[in-house]
Amino acid sequence: MEKKKVLGISFGRKMSNCDVMVKEALMECEREGCDVAFLRADDLDINNCTGCIACVIGMMSGRGRGYCVKHDDFDILDEAVMQADAVILACPTYETSVTGRFKTICDRIGPSHDITFRKARYDEGKAAGVPEEQLPDTRAFKKRSAALISVGGAMTEEWIALTLPMMYEFTFPMAIDVVDTVEYYGAMACENVAGNPEMMSRMTQVGKNIVASINAEDEEERIKFRGEEEGTCPICHTRLIQFAHDKKTASCLVCGSRGTFDIVDGEFVMHYTQEELDRSRLRWGGKLEHSTEIKTQAQPAGTIKNLKELKQPYADFNPGVWPVDTNANGNVKA
Ligand SMILES: Cc1cc2nc3c(=O)[nH]c(=O)nc-3n(C[C@H](O)[C@H](O)[C@H](O)COP(=O)(O)O)c2cc1C
Repeated sequence: MEKKKVLGISFGRKMSNCDVMVKEALMECEREGCDVAFLRADDLDINNCTGCIACVIGMMSGRGRGYCVKHDDFDILDEAVMQADAVILACPTYETSVTGRFKTICDRIGPSHDITFRKARYDEGKAAGVPEEQLPDTRAFKKRSAALISVGGAMTEEWIALTLPMMYEFTFPMAIDVVDTVEYYGAMACENVAGNPEMMSRMTQVGKNIVASINAEDEEERIKFRGEEEGTCPICHTRLIQFAHDKKTASCLVCGSRGTFDIVDGEFVMHYTQEELDRSRLRWGGKLEHSTEIKTQAQPAGTIKNLKELKQPYADFNPGVWPVDTNANGNVKA
């Protein structure tokens, strides 16, 4: 039987905390019989998404396969993700959230890899007899598991608060199931995580959890959350709740599941209906709802007849930036 493939991606500095943590988890996967691969995001030259939406328009019009018009090192990462049965990602905290490169990569995965767009295009193309090579890569539909690891130098978890939640952006488009999460803060108090036996042993456990997930006998066992804390959201297991404007309901900021809340025995408790859980953006139903609204409600170009005229004042308004303040001690010299 072909070995299961686990891809580790570090978004940190070379041989610093993220690299070492991902490698420890991967080494455990390898010991348990997996075929592993490792990428450092900073070794890849990946451009920002320009927002041209050619990827989505291509799929909707039947002319594209869901790929970016740009070809850069994103293709290397994309091919590795396509081959993988599981991904282990570690990202440093920059300004309480993910790094710019992490976000860039998520935007490039973005709608182009959304399985509801890709599946619709694939099925329509197949039915119309379009050759396989002109259709989306079916590996996008593979069930995958993930472990997410956030790292922060600060001594309090409040300073890494948004990193782990933001890391789910990598998983939305292909509905990758997150089965383990770790938040490592206080990293500055240890020269390198390699000298922190407790955290290194947690990384070994990440490897074991990923192996248990990808070798599971059934889907329920595969997606079982193996992290140390269940969180408040039953879908993504995070605890980032946003209250609705009327303060009567609340939703998970990460995956969008909405519910009502209560205090039971002094504890905050969320209540969800199955219907609402199925609308999570990590589930097919929630993703389909969004791709359908894009297909049916996005106003096509050319609808507003006098748009050029309406935009003209803004095209003509170009205030530019102020000249350098030579009286101040700034970084730009006049
Ligand atoms: C621009 C910048 C911003 C940072 N902001 C935070 C922060 O908001 N919270 C935090 O805990 N650590 C912050 N850090 C520290 C990094 O998260 C920390 O050095 C981490 O270990 C980097 O991962 P690495 O060791 O794998 O490279 C910041 C570092 C940089 C360079």
